[in-house]
This record gives sequence, structure tokens and C-alpha cells, in this order.
Amino acid sequence: MDLLEGLATTRAIRRYRPDPIPEDDLARILFAATRAPSGSNRQGFRFVVLRDGEKAQRARELLGRGARTIWEAKRVRDGYDAGTGAVDKSPKARMAATMEHFTTHFHEAPVIVLAALWCHREPDLELGGAVWPAVQNLLLAARGLGYGGVITGWHGPCLAELRAAIGMPDDPRWQLVATIPLGRPVGNHGSVRRRPIAEVVFEDGWEQPAPWAIDPPGTRFTSAGPPVDTRR
Ligand SMILES: Cc1cc2nc3c(=O)[nH]c(=O)nc-3n(C[C@H](O)[C@H](O)[C@H](O)COP(=O)(O)O)c2cc1C
Repeated sequence: MDLLEGLATTRAIRRYRPDPIPEDDLARILFAATRAPSGSNRQGFRFVVLRDGEKAQRARELLGRGARTIWEAKRVRDGYDAGTGAVDKSPKARMAATMEHFTTHFHEAPVIVLAALWCHREPDLELGGAVWPAVQNLLLAARGLGYGGVITGWHGPCLAELRAAIGMPDDPRWQLVATIPLGRPVGNHGSVRRRPIAEVVFEDGWEQPAPWAIDPPGTRFTSAGPPVDTRR
């Protein structure tokens, strides 16, 4: 697959077929993840792949609980059942249905990858960022092989128990940063929706238009995000 096409079609995939991911494919996906850049090439990222081992079963159970806890709170807090959320098949109602299914079945994903980071000093933005290129490489490689996944924070509510379940050292410098389920998608891959490039790419100065910044034909858009004109 063309690199740029893969990049533009690496969407969040939240429904998986039950087929396992062969070890050859897992190796290629994790190889790509571990080729990512990091500050001073420190390579503080680590990945724990959860399949069906004993520790994985316990971790899955905890993560499933974490997913439900977060989604149930978010559903109320963000008013997913109010306004257009109450209208059948509205984007909001569809998102709620997706998240409901996702968090109910999350623990059953063929593979769940935990991404961790070694924080050799107090975590700051630069250091915290050291894991994300690796996580995105992982998702891109998965896409390239026909799999899908999504970055989640489902480890949040069960951090201590999860760390114990996978035998992570009791050292605060090792931080769990992301939980990424992977599998063959139910349904298709498709283009991501983002803001038009002209709204987020400038030249020469803040919010100064870059005339060459034009989206390729067929690009799909969304209006989510901060205000377009910050000076207004
Ligand atoms: C740092 C980060 C955290 C995220 N956390 C979650 C999460 O906890 N649960 C989830 O379902 N999706 C999560 N996502 C996925 C985003 O919601 C998703 O990528 C975004 O809505 C855009 O959708 P798309 O990737 O399908 O275009 C996260 C993405 C990022 C980059």
C-alpha cells in the first residue's frame, strides 16, 4: 500500500472480527512500532502484547472494566443521550452505539497492546511525546497489513491492578501510556475526516494563509476542534 494513502485511511477501528493475528504479522507491526524516533534516540517505549496468556486474561478483564467505567461517565458528562443523541441514526447516536459496543466487547479484541514509556526525568511534554510516534507507527503498520485499531486510555481506571497483573516494575519512572486493541475490522477502512488543511496550516505567520495548502480531491472534512480564527 502507498504510504500516504495508508496514512490518510488509518481511522479509529472499534469493531473487530474474532480472527487471531498471526505472529508474523504481529512481528511486523511491532517492528514498525519500535522503529519510531525518540528524543536522543533513548527508545524508552515498551509494548506488552496481550493475547490469551494467563496474565493477559486478567489484564483484559481489568481493561474491559476500565473501558466501561470511562465510557459510562463520558456518556452522561458529554450528553450523548440528549439533543440529537436522542434522534435515531444521528451522528451522535451512532457514535454512542459504536462506543457502547466497543466498550462492551473491548476485552475480547484479538490483540490488545499496552504502550509504556520510561520517564528518565520528570515527565514533560517532550518526554511524554516519546511514545506517540511509536504508537502511530504501530497503527500505520497494522493498517498496511489490513488490521485496524485505536488509541485508548482504558488502562486509566485500573492502573495499579493492571501494573500488578502484567508484572510491571513498581517504579514510577515506567508509565503506562496507551492501550491499543487490534484486529481485522468489521466493515471497511476509510478516509479520516479532519479540518481542511487551509484552516490548520499557515505560512510565514500565525493564521497567515499558505496558498499552496489545498486538500487533495475527495478529502473528507469535519468541523471539530478549536476556533478557526483565534483573533476574532
Ligand atoms: C491521545 C489519544 C487518545 C485517545 N483516546 C481514546 C479513547 O480513550 N477511546 C477511544 O475510543 N478513542 C480514543 N482515541 C481515538 C480518537 O477518538 C480518534 O482517533 C478521533 O476521534 C478521530 O477519529 P478517526 O481516527 O477515526 O479519524 C484517542 C486518540 C488519541 C490520539
